[in-house]
Amino acid sequence: MKAPKPHRVLFVCLGNICRSPAAEEVFLSVLRSHGEDLAEWEIDSAGIGAWHVGELPDKRMRVHAGRRGITFSHRARQVSALDFDRFDLIIGMDSGNLSDLHEIAPTTEAARKIHPMMEFALTPTVYDHVPDPYYDGAEGFENVLNLLEDACEGLYQTISGGNH
Ligand code: 4NP
Repeated sequence: MKAPKPHRVLFVCLGNICRSPAAEEVFLSVLRSHGEDLAEWEIDSAGIGAWHVGELPDKRMRVHAGRRGITFSHRARQVSALDFDRFDLIIGMDSGNLSDLHEIAPTTEAARKIHPMMEFALTPTVYDHVPDPYYDGAEGFENVLNLLEDACEGLYQTISGGNH
């Protein structure tokens, strides 16, 4: 099955070691589940901050995601203005990420690529953002993965329905 554009999606969180690399892998598994040809998609993640550049995702995220069959090879990198040329959709996890992305966007037209992850949620929850799990326990990581599984399916439906 061939989905219409956009095929280039960048997920962004604060550190690029918990939420956005998980979003990247969850979205890739949604694409696979729908029989998409991954060669036609460019999916990546990046962080607002540079603290963890070069690192694999946080060990706790690797453990919790691993229980769902998700493994990681992504190394953290920092988002840049160039990403607005490289990607069609730039998806932030929380309001801080979104306002930082608006600061980085080179033009107002580029800024239209920015969307909140939870805009795509299919199932109503108490969350209007994907909460930072970094200082939380296990339940924070499980919550992030549950929210991402739902919102990544919604993102796929939105893209394949041609609404973006
Ligand atoms: P993430 O979580 O934004 O989901 O990757 C965080 C990771 C690291 C930090 C904050 C949030 N940090 O402050 O180092």
